[in-house]
Amino acid sequence: MPVKLETKYLYPFIKDEEYDQILPQVKTAHKILHLKKGPGSDYLGWLNLPSNYDKEEIEKINQTAQKIQDSSDIFIVIGIGGSYLGAKAAIEFLKSHNYNFLRKDTPKIFFIGNNISATAISELLEICTEKEVAINVISKSGETTETSIAFKIFREFLENKYGKEKAKERIFVTTDKESGLLRKMSDEKGYTSFNIPRDIGGRYSVLTPVGLLPIAVSGANIEEILNGALVANENFQKNNIENNICNKYAAIRNILYRKGKQIELLVGYEPHLYGITEWFKQLFAESEGKDSKGIFPASSIFSTDLHSIGQFIQDGSKIIFETVLQIKNNSPDITIKQSKNDEDKLNFLAGKTVSYINKKAFEGTVLAHTDGGVPNIILNLENISEYTLGYMIYFFEKACAVSGYMLGINPFNQPGVEAYKKNMFALLGKHGYEKEKEELEKRLKNSGR
Ligand code: PA5
Repeated sequence: MPVKLETKYLYPFIKDEEYDQILPQVKTAHKILHLKKGPGSDYLGWLNLPSNYDKEEIEKINQTAQKIQDSSDIFIVIGIGGSYLGAKAAIEFLKSHNYNFLRKDTPKIFFIGNNISATAISELLEICTEKEVAINVISKSGETTETSIAFKIFREFLENKYGKEKAKERIFVTTDKESGLLRKMSDEKGYTSFNIPRDIGGRYSVLTPVGLLPIAVSGANIEEILNGALVANENFQKNNIENNICNKYAAIRNILYRKGKQIELLVGYEPHLYGITEWFKQLFAESEGKDSKGIFPASSIFSTDLHSIGQFIQDGSKIIFETVLQIKNNSPDITIKQSKNDEDKLNFLAGKTVSYINKKAFEGTVLAHTDGGVPNIILNLENISEYTLGYMIYFFEKACAVSGYMLGINPFNQPGVEAYKKNMFALLGKHGYEKEKEELEKRLKNSGR
C-alpha cells in the first residue's frame, strides 16, 4: 500500500483495549458517513469522486494545461483556502518546493489572492513584466474578497498587456456551474471555465478542477492521482479498525484528544512536504474546530524545526502528539565523502547518504519525543508519486470526516470563518453593514470593548 500506518510508538500511550472501547464510535461515524445520514451530508461528493469523476472534464483540463504550457512563462493561481492549498501542496510534493527555480519546460506557477497584501500583488506584477502570463481564478462562491481583488488586478493587467480579446484566451475560471458573480462574469465574457461540483466543499476539492488544472500545468499526471484516490476509496470501505487505517487513525486521534492531547503536529522530514502540511492544517482545522471542540492542527518540517520549536515539543506542556510523514523511497541521494585528516570531524558519516542520516534523525527524534511524553503516529509513504499523493489525499479526507463525526460536529461547514468577514465588510463601508460599522468603530476607539 502506498500509505501505511505504523503505531508502535503509541504503545506507552494507548493500550490495546482502548481500541475496543472506541470501536462502536468509529463504526457509527463510518456508517453515518457512508449512509449520508450525518450533518453536512449535502457535501459528500468527494466520497465517491475517484470512481465517479467526469472523464471529459479531465480531458479538457489536460488540453487546457497543454495550451497554458505552450503559451505561458508564468501561470498564476488566484484563490484562497481550499481554492489553492491542495494544488500548491501537490505541486510541491510531486515537483519541489523549489519548482519555480528548477530547469523545466512548464511555466512557473505563482499563487496570489490568498492574502490582502499590496506588497505581494505588486511583486508578482513586477515578476510578470515582459513575460507571457495566464491566470486561473478559483472560487466556489465566486465572491471571496481576497480572490476577487487579485482577480480584478490581474485581469486588468492582462487586458492592458494583450488587449481585451486576447486576454480572454489567458483567463481560466474555476467556479460553481451556475451560481455566483464569477460564474456570471465568466459566462458573459466567454472565459474557458471549469465547474466545482455543488456537493464538494473547498477543502475537499483538490481532486476536482480546483486542484487538477494547476497540477496538470506543472506537468504532473492527474489521472494517476485519481487512480491512487480510487484505490484508497476501495481500501477504506471496511467498517472496522484493524483493516481500515483511515478509521484507525481517526480512532487514535480521538483517544489521544480525550487524554488531553489538544495539538496534532504533522511532521515531514522533507521540505517538499511543507505544502501537504499546510493543506492538512486547513482540512482538519476548518472541519473539526467547532462548538469549542477539536484538535488544533499544527505542522513542522524536521530537522529544521527541531532547532526552533523542538524544545517545546520535548519539554513543554504535554498537549501535543505528532503524526510523522516518512517517505520510504526518496531520490536523488548524496553520499558524504571521506575528508583528509577529518578536518570537519564528519568522517564518522563518510560513505553514508544524506537520506540515511535524515532517517537516523527521525529515529532519534521519535524516541526522544516519546520519552518526553509525546505520542508519535507514523504514516509511511511508499514514494513520491502521483499515485501515492492521490492515495494520501483521500486517506486524510476520509479520516477527517470520520474523526469529525466522532467529535459530534459537522465536518463540512465553516460558520466561524464568517465572523472576520462581517466585521471587515462593515469597516470598509459595504452596503448593508451600516449599523455594524458604527458599533465596530466605537469599539475600536474604546480599546476593543
Ligand atoms: O474550505 C473552504 O470551504 C474554504 O477554505 C474556501 O475554500 C475558501 O474560503 C475560499 O472560498 P471560495 O472558493 O468560495 O472563494
